[in-house]
Amino acid sequence: PAPGWSLDSDVVVVGSGVAGLTAALRCSAAGLRTVVVTKARLDDGSTRWAQGGIAAALGEGDTPGQHLDDTLVAGVGLCDEEAVRTLVTEGPGAVRRLIETGAHFDTGAEGAIELTREGGHHRRRIVHAGGDATGAEVSRALVEAVRARDIPTVENALVLDLLTDAEGRTAGVSLHVMGEGQHDGVGAVHAPAVVLATGGMGQVFSATTNPSVSTGDGVALALRAGAEVSDLEFVQFHPTVLFLGADAEGQQPLVSEAVRGEGAHLVDADGVRFMVGQHELAELAPRDVVAKGITRRMQERGTDHMYLDARHFGAHMWENRFPTILAACRAHGIDPVTEPIPVAPAAHYASGGVRTDSYGRTTVPGLYACGEVACTGVHGANRLASNSLLEGLVYAERIAADITAQHARDTLHARVPHPVAHPEIPSHPLLPSEARFAIQRVMTEGAGVLRSAESLAEAAAALARIHAEAAGALAEHGKTAEPGVDTWETTNLLCVARVLVAAAQRREETRGCHWREDHADRDDEAWRRHIVVRLNPDRT
Ligand code: SIN
Repeated sequence: PAPGWSLDSDVVVVGSGVAGLTAALRCSAAGLRTVVVTKARLDDGSTRWAQGGIAAALGEGDTPGQHLDDTLVAGVGLCDEEAVRTLVTEGPGAVRRLIETGAHFDTGAEGAIELTREGGHHRRRIVHAGGDATGAEVSRALVEAVRARDIPTVENALVLDLLTDAEGRTAGVSLHVMGEGQHDGVGAVHAPAVVLATGGMGQVFSATTNPSVSTGDGVALALRAGAEVSDLEFVQFHPTVLFLGADAEGQQPLVSEAVRGEGAHLVDADGVRFMVGQHELAELAPRDVVAKGITRRMQERGTDHMYLDARHFGAHMWENRFPTILAACRAHGIDPVTEPIPVAPAAHYASGGVRTDSYGRTTVPGLYACGEVACTGVHGANRLASNSLLEGLVYAERIAADITAQHARDTLHARVPHPVAHPEIPSHPLLPSEARFAIQRVMTEGAGVLRSAESLAEAAAALARIHAEAAGALAEHGKTAEPGVDTWETTNLLCVARVLVAAAQRREETRGCHWREDHADRDDEAWRRHIVVRLNPDRT
């Protein structure tokens, strides 16, 4: 059947976090017809949950060069230096433009922006808002600006697949809208430029800091469309996530690195600061080093969590500087003013994603990617803290500039394809939504913080079985799970999980946030390179 509805636009932005909304605002300001589509509500993505802040060389004595150095060290030899240079050089301006757009950041007595520190930064260079609610403020400001410009938005719109014309150029996206309103059901936005800004894939693991919408939809769409995806094995595990028990599933409360940046200590059950002596920056070492330090100590002690001790902050500092974290801890019966906070690492950020150039262009003409879904090359094997909102800002602006320039030269002109070909009957099987929990358990056990050839092989086999079951049902009975948000999300999770595991199997070394028990060292000779995956769109 033909799509029930369709819209025409110059650009369609998929996703509404910092990257998507910045791209939409800049494209709209340049006079392009712009539509934003988003899976839930405009402010439901990961951006809203960001605590620590946005890193940029804004402090006295700080320079983009020093920010570059810290980013390259964290990325352990796999950052694209030019991409990082662009990030750190354009970063301060992008933050100032965000302030002009309406975001309010915390300032000190003299009215100057207050800067904090996080892991891997040798300087205070992180702007924050509401103490520890930076993402909420960024999201508020951008959503308000998008509404003020009357940019058309379609909420509750799950993106299905990329539409292309006969020459393989981007021609829009198909969508399944769940809800009321004029755009109900399966439809399409036709546009010669599509900006994927769908965020991460943390939900591929059992415990994550990511919201429930982070199901790898953008990477899965890009893989189905034949775009290149890179560095998927580098999943960052945030070291200090509030520990709510070994069986905790889904989104878990983050305890920002900024808490350590302001002087909190990581301790074991005996109060020993185990990071001291492991790295010159101790608790403020890059994130992968701290996550490994915690995991090792947990193994030595046969326990499933460690503690973050910030009792010395006192009630006043806790209430004023970290109100969100204080409230989250207290909601779970822990009072950080009087007791150490139980913490453990949990999945936090996909350092890899859809491969792009320095203008966010993917390998499919007209398809752009930006923010966590993208792999611009700035993160390498391990993202530096608070570089993610910054990347979203800087590269969204570059994408908007490129689309605007191409539009002016008339070089983006895909022919709108015929009505979407049976978009609700995908060429691959849709998984039943219950499979999500099986995928998450398999990934946490086999491809979590610590991996080995054996654990990864088990994970790969289990994921293959989940796929085979669904494929068998389709082949034998012509049946697939009912199309819907849950079944599409679960299908996307399986797709990205399988590619992630395959990449992790290939990389036989330990580097950044990819930690192999059976290949404990970094191997620059064999592995100072990227694992790039491109699926054959006819065979996915
Ligand atoms: C945090 O506040 O610790 C998270 C910052 C980040 O992920 O960059």
